[in-house]
Amino acid sequence: MNNLIAPSVLAADFANLQRDIEIVNNSEADWFHIDIMDGVFVPNISFGMPVLQAIAKHAKKTIDVHLMIVDPDRYIQTFADLGADILTVHYEACTHLHRTVQAIKAAGMKAGVALNPHTPIAVLEDIITDLDLVCIMSVNPGFGGQSFIENTYKKVSQLKNLIEFSKTTCHIEIDGGVTNKNANPLIEVGANVLVAGSFVFKSEDPTATIAELKNIVT
Ligand code: DX5
Ligand code: ZN
Repeated sequence: MNNLIAPSVLAADFANLQRDIEIVNNSEADWFHIDIMDGVFVPNISFGMPVLQAIAKHAKKTIDVHLMIVDPDRYIQTFADLGADILTVHYEACTHLHRTVQAIKAAGMKAGVALNPHTPIAVLEDIITDLDLVCIMSVNPGFGGQSFIENTYKKVSQLKNLIEFSKTTCHIEIDGGVTNKNANPLIEVGANVLVAGSFVFKSEDPTATIAELKNIVT
C-alpha cells in the first residue's frame, strides 16, 4: 500500500482557513484530518460542526474525521451529512463498539477506531475484520504539537500482525508528533497513513513539507 499523508487542520491558521485548505488541495496530501474534541473525552475543545461544514465546502480530498468525544453514536448521521468520508471513534469512548462501527458503515462512511497510547492492540482482535482504519495515537489526544511516543513502533508491528493473521485489510494511521524523523521508520514497520499537524502547518513551506513526507520512503 502506498503511504498516505493526512495534514491535520487543527494546526492550520483558523483566521486563514480557506487559504490553508487550498494549500492542502493543491499539495500531494491525500486526506484532510479533522480533529473534533469535546472538552470531556479530552481536555480541550477544538471546533465543531459549523467549522467542519465550512472546511468541507472547499476540501477536494477525502475527509478523515477523528472524533475525540464521548458518546459518538449521537453524531454519526450528522458527520455523514457534513461530508465525512471516514469516521474514527475512540475505543475508550465506545461501550458497544461493534454497534457503533456498524452504524458508521450504515451511514455510508468508512469506519475507524482510534487507540490511546495506553490501550493495547489486542483489544481489537474481535473487531479488526470490521474496520477500515485503525488510528494509533502516538501522543495523548487533545493537543497538537506534542512529542511522539516511541512505544508506537511496537504497536504498529503488532497491529500489522493482527491484520495479516486475520486475513483482512485495514489502514494503519499514526496520529501525533509525526515528523520527517519518524515518518520513514513508521512506514517501515507497517503504517500507511501519516497524520501531521504542526510539522506541516508550522513549517515555512507546508506544500514542500507535505511533499517531503509523501516521498519520504528511502
Ligand atoms: C491530537 C490530534 C492530532 C493532532 C496532531 O489529539 O488527534 O490529529 O492534530 O498534531 P501534531 O501533528 O501537531 O502532533
Ligand atoms: Zn487526530
